[in-house]
Amino acid sequence: MRILAIETSCDETGLAFVDCAGGLTAPRFKILAETLASQIELHAAWGGVVPMLAKREHIKNLPILLDKISRKTPRLASRTDLIAVTVGPGLEPALWAGIEFAKELAKKWGKPLIGTNHMEGHLFSPLLDSRFQIPDSRKPFPAVALVVSGGHSMLLRLADTAHWKLLGETRDDAAGEAFDKVARLLNLPYPGGPEISKRAKLGRPSIPFPMPMLHSKDYDFSFSGLKTAVLYHLKGLGYRVSGIADSAKNKTLNPIPDTLVNDVAASFEFAAVGVLCTKAFRAVDQYGARSVWIAGGVAANASLRKAFEAGAAERGISLFAPDMAHNTDNAAMIGAAAYLQALRKKKRPLRAKGDMQT
Ligand code: KG4
Ligand code: ZN
Repeated sequence: MRILAIETSCDETGLAFVDCAGGLTAPRFKILAETLASQIELHAAWGGVVPMLAKREHIKNLPILLDKISRKTPRLASRTDLIAVTVGPGLEPALWAGIEFAKELAKKWGKPLIGTNHMEGHLFSPLLDSRFQIPDSRKPFPAVALVVSGGHSMLLRLADTAHWKLLGETRDDAAGEAFDKVARLLNLPYPGGPEISKRAKLGRPSIPFPMPMLHSKDYDFSFSGLKTAVLYHLKGLGYRVSGIADSAKNKTLNPIPDTLVNDVAASFEFAAVGVLCTKAFRAVDQYGARSVWIAGGVAANASLRKAFEAGAAERGISLFAPDMAHNTDNAAMIGAAAYLQALRKKKRPLRAKGDMQT
């Protein structure tokens, strides 16, 4: 089945043409073509994503990307079996841009259209990497998956590619959101995750920030207290930290020395990765998981990946993680999730709203 997938949930406009095969037991994906238009530079000036600006850009970008992908893929319309579009979760105006575009295209091409969940896209993004395609004989289930993005932090238990259960999620800020907010406190530009990651490599994790909910009996997370601890640490050292959006302006008003920025970044990252990793592997042990998965924008974090690689190696289980291009938002992952969803015969209303049900 060949799927044309459309992603516009936040600040990336994505289109991908994905060849999907193998069914629910041994799904295989081949990305035939993909394009992505990032709006990061546009939103960076505002210190975060502005929904109406994102919508405007998606509306502008979608026909351009379709044209681009059509030129790379001869007979795109006739070769497409299904069109998939992200219906949530995400920024409502941004989602609507994709949904309206997809509806028109489906009508024009006379193709079926399926509404897809963005977090399911992240969840199954490791399967886009040929190394992690599931051969029938060597099943990696049950599996435990940590999906960490800018809007969500979820721990899931997968019985197979069609059945999963949410074990826990964030009670306040998502992991990526915490990276972004701490970056702001440190006057680092948006998006903060990659910046913190870079700075952390240069610093030492010498500040003992708390690891919220590390010992709680459940699988929930909380990151807002960790962010506040960073705020009070900086204030305690005499810095007037506001976390305002304009990092350049704040930097001149309130310079924080590079060595301190690096050490705070390293210490924050150490605490955040520590909680995510400890809880995920506690679930791996409790459920006897045969593989552990990480996905979502924060899965691009080198320390998190290293910690997961070590945890998986220690237990002799496999680590499923997306290749570097598919950690953050993209349309190919929406194609993968749409294929599995179509096989489950699950329909979602074509409205900007998303649940994540098996
Ligand atoms: O999955 P994603 O692209 O979008 C959402 O669905 O939210 O995730 C974006 C998030 C942002 O919060 C960004 O700061 C974070 O992923 N991120 C990272 C890294 N790269 C992106 N966080 C930590 N380390 C990174 N290297
Ligand atoms: Zn995402």
